[in-house]
Amino acid sequence: MSSVELSGIRKTYGPVEALAEVDLQIEAGQFVTLLGPSGSGKTTLLNIVSGMIEATAGSVRIAGKDVTNVPPGGRDLGMVFQNYALMPHMSVFDNVAFPLKIRKLPKEQIARQVGEVLDLVQLGHLADRKPKELSGGQQQRVSIARCLVYRPALILMDEPLGALDKKLREQLQLEIKRIHQDLKVTVLYVTHDQEEALVLSDKICVMNEGRIEQEGGPTELYFQPRTQFIADFLGESNILEGRVGRGKGPCKAITFDEAITVQTDFAEGLAENENARFLIRPESISITKSQPDENAIRARIVDTIFSGESSRVYLQAPSGLKLIAKSYSRFEGEDFSVGDDVYATFRPIDCRPIVDV
Ligand SMILES: Nc1ncnc2c1ncn2[C@@H]1O[C@H](COP(=O)(O)OP(=O)(O)OP(=O)(O)O)[C@@H](O)[C@H]1O
Ligand SMILES: [Mg+2]
Repeated sequence: MSSVELSGIRKTYGPVEALAEVDLQIEAGQFVTLLGPSGSGKTTLLNIVSGMIEATAGSVRIAGKDVTNVPPGGRDLGMVFQNYALMPHMSVFDNVAFPLKIRKLPKEQIARQVGEVLDLVQLGHLADRKPKELSGGQQQRVSIARCLVYRPALILMDEPLGALDKKLREQLQLEIKRIHQDLKVTVLYVTHDQEEALVLSDKICVMNEGRIEQEGGPTELYFQPRTQFIADFLGESNILEGRVGRGKGPCKAITFDEAITVQTDFAEGLAENENARFLIRPESISITKSQPDENAIRARIVDTIFSGESSRVYLQAPSGLKLIAKSYSRFEGEDFSVGDDVYATFRPIDCRPIVDV
């Protein structure tokens, strides 16, 4: 049974169509992320699940029950927001205990559950502090603890790490992942950070202009994006347009500047003489000075950018075709300089058609 089932969800604000026609299923225990640019409808969709926004059309089911017309309090879910929404005059302990006090649980049980959940988010030693005496990351852990403490079946998080710096964000991502694995709760998570979505999710739904444009596991979306929007949103991409030819053995040849071989698994359905677009990830491209046997595009290095663990090399072929290659930086590695004439090469399997442009 799905934990969450959305069918035909639409939301309009006057002439603005915030959500076009969204269907989504979340299995119990799954970590599902809504990923997309600003204004694509992520928060609207999350709040339709929470009950804080009413859909213009469509239905919401949680744990098999139709909750389309049930207010937020009756939906057995917890929420974590970007602005921690803690009560400033209460201690960490009292903030976390608050949902249990409302539910009138016995004192000893409250103390036990709050203690357990504060340990889970590694804040047991700060139980007596006030929110303003905590760092941003610690405050967000309090708000996660406050959500976990009453053990909702479903947790909704809207950009919970958005206000934190990169290092802290990465650390808390791992904590959220661990907590999800330990507690096996169902999570619907919103972010516009593609790396965060890839790290955390069992399933990612990429949203574009009020629709889910593609959904799938992190590796599937990264390596087999169906559209250019998905390819660009989930990382850097080289999109090449070429004409399909016969190719060697079972493979197809694609002519961009030079003839390039594409693995048949992905070239199936491509008719000869058809024009098609292909994705090659920058990290799939290697640069060599000597000419490889096949799959090489002759190009000149126009720029290089060192960014710590990786370096990007910007290339341009004589025809004007532009490529980006990315590789791990190595101290005293092979040296390429701007102006060098080189070959950009990649495996047939790393050149994939983008079917739906
Ligand atoms: N109350 C409202 N009235 C009118 N338009 C709204 C309202 N709330 C949201 N919208 C519009 O609906 C669209 C989706 O908004 P939403 O907040 O869901 O985007 P989002 O994907 O969460 O963006 P962000 O990443 O910036 O938080 C936007 O175009 C927004 O301007
Ligand atoms: Mg939002």
